[in-house]
Amino acid sequence: MIPLPLARIAEITSGALTGMADPRAVVRGPVVIDSRAVEPGSLFVAIKGARVDGHDYAAQAIRAGAVAVLATRPVEGPAVIVPDAAAALAELATAQAAALPKVTVIGVTGSAGKTSTKDLLARLTARVGPTIAPVGSFNNELGHPLTVLRADLDTRFMVLELAARNIGHIKDLTRIAPPEIGVVLNVGTAHLGVFGGKEAIAKAKGELVEALPRTGVAVLNADDPLVRAMASRTDARVTFFGRGESASIRAEGVTVDARGRASFTLRTPSGSAPVSLQLFGEHAVENALAAAAAGYELGLPVATIAAELSQATPLSRWRMEVTDRADGVTVVNDAYNANPDSMRAAFAAFEVLGRGRRRFAVIAALRELGEEGPALNAELGRLAGGSGLAGLIVAGPDAGPVLEGASAAAAEAQAAAQAALDAQAAAHAAAGVPQAPIPHQDAPQGWHGPSPDQGPPQPGWQAPPAGGPVPGQPPVGGPPMGAAPFGGVPAGPPAGGPHLGGPVAGAPPGGGAAYPAQAMRIVHVPDAEAAAAELAGWLRPGDAVLVKGPRAMGLERTAELVLGGAAQ
Ligand SMILES: Nc1ncnc2c1ncn2[C@@H]1O[C@H](COP(=O)(O)OP(=O)(O)OP(=O)(O)O)[C@@H](O)[C@H]1O
Ligand SMILES: [Mg+2]
Repeated sequence: MIPLPLARIAEITSGALTGMADPRAVVRGPVVIDSRAVEPGSLFVAIKGARVDGHDYAAQAIRAGAVAVLATRPVEGPAVIVPDAAAALAELATAQAAALPKVTVIGVTGSAGKTSTKDLLARLTARVGPTIAPVGSFNNELGHPLTVLRADLDTRFMVLELAARNIGHIKDLTRIAPPEIGVVLNVGTAHLGVFGGKEAIAKAKGELVEALPRTGVAVLNADDPLVRAMASRTDARVTFFGRGESASIRAEGVTVDARGRASFTLRTPSGSAPVSLQLFGEHAVENALAAAAAGYELGLPVATIAAELSQATPLSRWRMEVTDRADGVTVVNDAYNANPDSMRAAFAAFEVLGRGRRRFAVIAALRELGEEGPALNAELGRLAGGSGLAGLIVAGPDAGPVLEGASAAAAEAQAAAQAALDAQAAAHAAAGVPQAPIPHQDAPQGWHGPSPDQGPPQPGWQAPPAGGPVPGQPPVGGPPMGAAPFGGVPAGPPAGGPHLGGPVAGAPPGGGAAYPAQAMRIVHVPDAEAAAAELAGWLRPGDAVLVKGPRAMGLERTAELVLGGAAQ
């Protein structure tokens, strides 16, 4: 930050100095709200949260070298007393941003992908000059000003993530550090409950481009109609990115490799260059294009943009983090957060990455979706249940709609797979293929033959049961949902995908009967730890696991436990 004496801080925040605070003592930063992050020269801002009151840590902060505490009541030691610490923090950041003449502020908003895009874009701007970008997802009324306060007189770019939890929030954030470039990624269903509709979300996100000056640039996603329509809400010049011809910065010839990483030709008005992303999931193309479009506006050569995008690896944790265990189990840790859109993106990426392997997923019910919550969670269940998984674990509370959706979709998929098997058996019978003994007839009920992508069962792997209980497992098909808080759920099963259209390994060549189609195990567990314990019994070498849920569920813990603490 630009060093400020306490007297000036008191002036900016209309605060009063107490506790023998020396008006000439200079705060050089960092400004922090976590007393553990205090360094000599810091200003410690005491925020009263739901669980913790920063004022209780004031003395500790002063001992660690804080020049003063920005507080709402007198504390032990020098302080600037203000009526509202968060508001004072915003005022301080606003004054600081205004004193930074060389800085270009770039704001990024959207329902999904802000942090990922911010990380990519900060990489590009760093090629031009010193860049400040938030660590992780600092995007709210506290994180935003704290990030702005990290800038100093050398800073050339601030790449900021702006989140809207309601109408007016982004407008407020843009007042702190007025952006010249505004990037809008997408309008999805995150926080639908708070907003009450997608149009309201679009209204809130569009506040970013409304705040741009005439000399600024709005960087809009041409592929998202609600974002495209924001072109009419800005005084700034508009540039579009996307997959279609209408976008001036676009991706052509997108291909995705076996791990789900996209490659494409980046086209711009002044040339093209090949990009091969190391980020997982096709949705990364959208984020890469957004970053490319902003970078292009800053005058970066296309070749440089393409090279930087191709070198970028995930910077912020738990977003499509793909790690291989020594035994070949691949864990996709996308547990940072989840909403309906990012769930769809994750399942799409996981399908590519897990092709030809047994796939499992650990998910949890989505939150903050308001009245639409149960329906959207049932839809999530259907997505998971119909995606050809060998097993699904739903963790945490409010899982009813997810479990119901998943069982229904799994049952449909299994029925379809069974019908295909029966049809195949009947065709063989009609063609006079000799009847063969049905090799599985003595197997426990529900046992199924291996399918082409699943390989032979390994010792230790328990076939998903269709009826009877499995030792050590909650009974599948046991108590009705809601009767017991956790446990198995009557699962109808898919694995239709692998069976359909190809020969079924081990299928009886004779007519009359076919193996039962693959059953999908669906289990409800209380938390991230229980999910890991459950998975441990399911996994065998070569399997793939997707872990994704809302922030509050902390499912990254599941991924880390499955990886044996080696999730780096
Ligand atoms: N363009 C995209 N479309 C859909 N999903 C995406 C996109 N980009 C990232 N995701 C997924 O969304 C989740 C969150 O990504 P990221 O942290 O970049 O988004 P964010 O907008 O910053 O989220 P938050 O609002 O929680 O800060 C991750 O699971 C990620 O894989
Ligand atoms: Mg974020």
